[in-house]
Order: sequence, then structure tokens, then C-alpha cells
Amino acid sequence: MSTDDKKDPASWHGAKMDFTEAMSYGDYLGLDQILTAQHPRSPNHNEMLFIIQHQTSELWLKLMLHEMHAVRANLRAGELPPAFKMLARVARIMDQLVHAWDVLATLTPPEYSAIRPYLGASSGFQSHQYRELEFILGNKNAALLAVHTKTTHAYEVLERELHAPSVYDEAIMLLARSGFDIAADRLDRDWTQPTVADESVKAAWLSVYQQPDKYWALYELAEKLVDLETAFRFWRFRHVTTVERVIGFKTGTGGTAGVSYLRKMLDVVLFPELFSLRTAL
Ligand code: HEM
Repeated sequence: MSTDDKKDPASWHGAKMDFTEAMSYGDYLGLDQILTAQHPRSPNHNEMLFIIQHQTSELWLKLMLHEMHAVRANLRAGELPPAFKMLARVARIMDQLVHAWDVLATLTPPEYSAIRPYLGASSGFQSHQYRELEFILGNKNAALLAVHTKTTHAYEVLERELHAPSVYDEAIMLLARSGFDIAADRLDRDWTQPTVADESVKAAWLSVYQQPDKYWALYELAEKLVDLETAFRFWRFRHVTTVERVIGFKTGTGGTAGVSYLRKMLDVVLFPELFSLRTAL
């Protein structure tokens, strides 16, 4: 403690202590809003964990979307190094969310059952940010827009995203601009449809993997996308295993069959050719 700190009880190691007229940490981060947004509905102690786990996931989803929109713009502009950096960041965020399931797994079945009657029909299934992430990665499904009211901002965003080329579509357009022979109907397709494997795309990525020195940037892009999809698959897997651990085979609050629905989602492949080509290497 400096002599000054001893003299003035409101001073600590030279730190600024008076924020009546300056922006503080809490002001900058909007902590008053964030930290007053937890409203447990049940008398159960464990509901706070349930709420905060979902809220933090939504914050990370917000950042992932922020990054992925920039990735797509960079791919379109042919600016690969910044896109690589952002893709790496998104994959690490996803990894972190994979580990976050360990915290939620401390919620036991009786603890969850005490909360469940208070959740109504609310479910992560209605997460518009999650759906936007799926769409921007190419897992399009127009039917799921119906969960959101037509006049809302979420609906508008999802509808726009449904009609836009995904990040993977942009990567394929980049392959074409780099001189690869990509089928015309793959380059101008109905963007509202989910990604479907295409032979010309597979052949192009295969050439990239067979001559990495020649196509280093595309090779790096492919591996960054594989990294991201791998992390996403782990997230889906941890979700379904945590759900099974906590609610068994009960139906979901969102109305699906629960675990069997989530298991079906494990079959989703975001970037099909990047995985199928590996057999040929
Ligand atoms: C104990 C905690 C949890 C349980 C029991 C649970 C259960 C479920 C179930 C059963 C579904 C299927 C839809 C339904 O019928 O409700 C679902 C979907 C979903 N949940 Fe969870 N969940 C939990 C935690 C979380 C967390 C922390 C997140 C993070 C945001 C999350 C995000 C999602 C998403 C995005 C979907 C939609 C998946 C898709 O359609 O592919 N869940 N959840």
C-alpha cells in the first residue's frame, strides 16, 4: 500500500475510484441490463444455472454470427487471411461451448424435473440465433421459420438468411473463381435449400488436397471449415448426451420426441464434399 493509499481510504494502488462522471466497467458492458436479465420462475435453486447456461450460449452465438457474417463477406471479396482468423475463432468458441456442457451436466434429473413445469413450451429449438447459425452454415430449413412470428426482427433475419448463399456456398464460388470447373447449377442454385453434395465440388476439393502447395489458401480454408464442422458435431453430440442424462427419453418442452429428434440431427453434414473426399486420399 502506498503512503497515499494509507492517507485516503477511498484510494487503492492508484486505481480510479470515482465514476460519478466517468464511464465505468459496468457502464461500458451494460452490466445492469445483463445481470438483471435472470428471472427464475420456480422456487428451485438450480434454475439459475439453467438460465445462465442458456444466456451465455446465446451471447457466444451472437459473437459466432458476428464473425460468420464477416467470414462470408471476406470470402466474397477474396480476402482469405482475415476469414481464416475468424473461422479459427468461431471453432474455438464452439469448442468452449462443448466444454460448457460439463457445467450443465451437474443438473440432475430431479433438479431438472423441479424446473420443467415452469418452462412451458419454451425450448432451445426456438433459438433464432442458433437457427441463423445453421442457415449461414448451409443447413437450411424453411419450415422452421414458422416458430417465429412473421412481424418480428428474428423472422426477417432468418428469412433473409434463408435466401442468401451460405458460407460454404461462397467457398464453392471461390473455387470456381480460382479456376476449378464447378457445375453451373451448383453456382446458381436455390439458396433456400440445404447443401447437397456435388461431384464437381468434390473433384475440385480433391485437387486442392492432392496439391496443397499449389492451392495453399484453399487448402487452409478447407481445413478451417472441417475444424469448425468437427467442433459443431461435438456440440450436437454433447447436447444430446447431456439431454439424455438429464431428462432420459421424455419429450422436449419444444414438442419433439426429445433425444431421438436430437440424435437425428447428428446426421447433419454441413460440408459434405470436404468429408467424403478423404476416402480418396
Ligand atoms: C438440461 C438442459 C437441456 C435440455 C433438457 C434440452 C433439451 C432439448 C430438447 C429435448 C430439444 C429438442 C426440441 C424440443 O422438443 O424441445 C432441444 C433442442 C435444442 N436445444 Fe436444448 N436442452 C438443454 C439445454 C440446452 C442449452 C444449454 C442450449 C444452448 C443454447 C440448448 C440449445 C438447443 C437448441 C439450439 C435446440 C434446437 C436443436 C435443433 O433443432 O437442431 N439446449 N433441447
